Amino acid sequence: MNEKKNLHTPSMRKARKRTRKDTAVVDFDRHAVLKDIGKGRLYHLDTYGCQANEADSETIRGILEKLGFAETEEESRADLILLNTCVVRSSAANRVFGELGRLKRYKRDNPDLILGVAGCLPQDESATERILKEHPHVDLIFGTHNIHRLPELLETALLSKEKVVEVLSEEGDIVENLPKRRFHAKKAYVNIMYGCDEFCTYCVVPYTRGKERSRPFEAILAEIDKLIEEGYREVTLLGQNVNAYGKDLESEASFADLLCAFHERDIARVRFTTSHPKDFDQETIEILARGGNLMPHIHLPVQAGSDEILRRMNRKYTSDDIVDLVGRIREAVPGISLTTDLIVGFPGETEADFADTLALLDKVRFEGAFTFMYSPREGTPAASFDHSVPPETKKERLHRLQKKVDEGYKRGHERFLGETVDVLVEGESKEEGMLKGYSPHHKLVHFAGGTGLVGAIVPVRITEAKTWFMRGEIDEESA
Ligand code: SAH
Ligand code: SF4
Ligand code: F3S
Repeated sequence: MNEKKNLHTPSMRKARKRTRKDTAVVDFDRHAVLKDIGKGRLYHLDTYGCQANEADSETIRGILEKLGFAETEEESRADLILLNTCVVRSSAANRVFGELGRLKRYKRDNPDLILGVAGCLPQDESATERILKEHPHVDLIFGTHNIHRLPELLETALLSKEKVVEVLSEEGDIVENLPKRRFHAKKAYVNIMYGCDEFCTYCVVPYTRGKERSRPFEAILAEIDKLIEEGYREVTLLGQNVNAYGKDLESEASFADLLCAFHERDIARVRFTTSHPKDFDQETIEILARGGNLMPHIHLPVQAGSDEILRRMNRKYTSDDIVDLVGRIREAVPGISLTTDLIVGFPGETEADFADTLALLDKVRFEGAFTFMYSPREGTPAASFDHSVPPETKKERLHRLQKKVDEGYKRGHERFLGETVDVLVEGESKEEGMLKGYSPHHKLVHFAGGTGLVGAIVPVRITEAKTWFMRGEIDEESA
């Protein structure tokens, strides 16, 4: 590690270790020194990656606005441009490097501009090295473990005009009461835990996000109660493996207990992501069966259908386990919508292994999936596995997989034809006079209506089922 002034770079080897045994909980307000260093200044923030990053961006915005910064859409007007980045696949990382090249001209036009990189990319040591080498115009680099230090890091960057790099290899304490500026007025993400201890062999997230740490039960409920007071209609509980919630806490609190507490709260919609099949317990299934505000949709990444590939991915379940789990979920919550994540071209994946993935899809009948070509990540075990699959084979398998996945999307929409579903209206769609929003089953719905309905929950009768969305009209009788 380079300990030069203002230069603190990460190590993947250190990130792999789980040295800290206890996690303390600290309060943001008691530690942060908030000066109005942003007064009269504008920031522009771009967010890449998963919901964990979106939630972090809400915190970054919250902190920046506490410091007096105001947001701008226009990069050319910004005094601070921040990229909150992802490194899960090489394509995600390359996009950021492309952006850094493009943003260079704003630095030329405005030498006082602070250009910063945050999030998961800097947690990858080779990526940080590359930023430092190839993009010397970047002024500020920090990672996922020290967002709460943004006030100090920015002040140093602004005052000293020196490059500030602070990427920690190990998670610190859980910081509560972080300020947040949410992206939606009616929908909020709520972290229930941080980090991941699964170490799936392909995945860099346990390195970029550190040890699995559950937030205290009461802190989560306090956040929800505040959101309810503020008029939010939907919350999404976030974690890399929400079903493992509470396992690291001294209290007996489990994910099922959390859902139970939410079920009784006066909020219209509760969602959660992501679920790991191996930790999805019967108690959780039974609570989901209570319905009400617990939305009938589960994102259940299975990754592959071949037991041998699943074993080498370190997923700790078989395809039979998935069929059994899904059977029990469907029995408890009839009509529930299930979506998944799938990887093709994992090292050593044969045509027969791939056929097992297709066969699992036929059995489970998911109604949507994110599909990925395996992308080797430096420092993860799978990066050194033998027998990489040729790119053209990966592409061809991805293509075949997507075809089947798309059929699932369409099927998932067709089953609502003629039915009336409640839509939480997000905003206008691209089509003039049309609004868009999501149904309880997390299906995208377009319908004609005025912008006064944004934020409301509106009954819509489905008239048309496409692959990517459904169309409908306001059901006046139910309205
Ligand atoms: N914690 C979640 C999501 C993690 S990242 C989960 O366990 O499901 C989101 C998805 O990216 C993963 O589900 C996986 O399908 C995909 N992914 C992760 N690492 C990858 C890699 N190296 N190459 C291709 N896809 C990857
Ligand atoms: Fe990655 Fe596996 Fe953790 Fe998901 S559960 S974040 S895929 S290591
Ligand atoms: Fe990407 Fe980090 Fe999420 S690597 S997928 S933004 S946890």
